[in-house]
Amino acid sequence: VSEHIDLIAEINRLKIEKNAVILAHYYVDGAIQDLADYIGDSLGLSQQAAATEAEMIVFCGVHFMGETAKILSPNKKVVIPDMNAGCSLADSAPADKFAAFKAQHPDHIVISYINCSAEIKALTDIVCTSSNALQIVESLPKDQKIIFAPDANLGRYVAQKTGRDMVLWDGACIVHIDISREKLAQLRVEHPDALLIAHPECKEDILLQSDFVSSTTGLLKFVKASNHQKFIVATEAGILHKMKESVPGKKLIPAPGSDNNTCACSECPYMKMNTLEKVYNALRYEQPEIHVPEDIRLKAYGSLERMLELSK
Ligand code: 13P
Ligand code: SF4
Repeated sequence: VSEHIDLIAEINRLKIEKNAVILAHYYVDGAIQDLADYIGDSLGLSQQAAATEAEMIVFCGVHFMGETAKILSPNKKVVIPDMNAGCSLADSAPADKFAAFKAQHPDHIVISYINCSAEIKALTDIVCTSSNALQIVESLPKDQKIIFAPDANLGRYVAQKTGRDMVLWDGACIVHIDISREKLAQLRVEHPDALLIAHPECKEDILLQSDFVSSTTGLLKFVKASNHQKFIVATEAGILHKMKESVPGKKLIPAPGSDNNTCACSECPYMKMNTLEKVYNALRYEQPEIHVPEDIRLKAYGSLERMLELSK
């Protein structure tokens, strides 16, 4: 514990010395969330990355999040605690294959979920997150044909909600699709008075039976605003850290993953690569640093900028 306290003190000291800001996603370890300057969902985090006046951004999340921060704030140094913290959704869409897919649908507009590489963002017309996907799709003319990538579950959910014609790329989040249908059914029998709330990266059958579907920030706000006292939370378990803090009297039950997951809940192995020690090292040595080639950055910036404009 004392080692932790020293690390935290050192991180706070270096942060001031280097004029750095620590941004953290809700899925990283609670100890990192506690020392972050801002914690949020992907939209909130990109808005912060675009607006910060700090000279350095330490992004505690996964690679595409640090990359997004660099695209939006190219003059800032962006470091992430672990370069290997990737994302199955981003990995599911290699740029060359996606470019060929896009070429097969020349009359379609490309909307990409922010969980993708800078190269995919450069091939995209408008980026979206789980909190603004419906709004962004609805901002387009009704007859507009759309390619949605890389998350097929989010894409199907948006297509069903908006009634739009969408071609889906077949990517998935390994964490959300691992939520066990059988264990969830059992939990619902044990807790018939609990509301089921879910992230739209979950599979269709889970979304169809959910009482509320939203991004991490949306789920957090819902739990706070609702009169209900009990919730089964179908997303990565890191969100429970802030949820428990905001609604200490309510009962929050994480939806269990299959037996492949190391905890009795659902944990993202990439998000969990962030540790206090790595945050300290990233701040101290200013690496690993994110770089994005300028030609790709400029194109990716356009698709992110359109999203930020539509989300004001
Ligand atoms: P949001 O926090 O934007 O809902 O994203 C969830 C996620 O899976 C991030 O990797
Ligand atoms: Fe990617 Fe899923 Fe992990 Fe989010 S939770 S970073 S979508 S693998």
